[in-house]
Amino acid sequence: DGPKPLAGKRVVITAGPTREPIDPVRYITNHSSGKMGYALAGAARDAGADVVLVSGPVTLDCPPGVRRESVNTAEEMLQAAEAAVEAGCDLFIATAAVADYRPETCAGDKIKKSRGSMSLALVRNPDTLATIAARADKPFTVGFAAETRDVEHYARDKMARKQLDMIVANDVSRPGLGFNSDHNAVTVFWQTGSRTFEPASKPALARDLLTLIAQQAFPLDAN
Ligand code: PMT
Repeated sequence: DGPKPLAGKRVVITAGPTREPIDPVRYITNHSSGKMGYALAGAARDAGADVVLVSGPVTLDCPPGVRRESVNTAEEMLQAAEAAVEAGCDLFIATAAVADYRPETCAGDKIKKSRGSMSLALVRNPDTLATIAARADKPFTVGFAAETRDVEHYARDKMARKQLDMIVANDVSRPGLGFNSDHNAVTVFWQTGSRTFEPASKPALARDLLTLIAQQAFPLDAN
């Protein structure tokens, strides 16, 4: 058993993609596998935390000792995350790749094709991370940012706009890293610092990330 820098802490983590229905058989989604979020959930449990994993549809098993709330859509993710935070949360980490838009309506029957093109009206989805960060009883809040260019600029911009304590920036243009891969490399930014983590397996990276997050979130705890 290693050190327990999160002993007694309640941690809520979002993971995976969301699925936004178009009709009974079709949906909009993305390539998130959930691996990064599930690795963080396992590492937070190992660090002594009580962990709730709010998960979009993925094929991974829930890490033993972690409580999973399974959701499909961005709206369901927001609801489940708010309920988990309301039950008590010291640290909130959003790794989910949430669909920014959903179809304005979900057709009741399968949409039939016609000869011409078709267009789909999309509306904005709620932002789980920004909603949690705006709470009066805001937990220490960590976001992720998957970017393909100007990584630091966009990551710092997201941290400021969403009022986050830290942001973990992924350069997903690097081959073999990020979405769906078993490995990742990130740079973490916070108000007064930054740290780069070289490519590593998601479980190894998750352990190192949580050590840094715990130091920043709970500096007065004697670890
Ligand atoms: O799941 P894997 O295959 O392991 O891949 C991991 C990952 C690449 C998906 C992950 O490491 C990652 O980078 N996740 C963030 C993906 C992203 O592009 O997020 P974003 O820039 O759309 O959103 C920024 C932050 O706001 C994220 O923390 C996101 O969870 C959160 N968000 C965004 C939109 C929304 N409606 N609700 C949110 O909570």
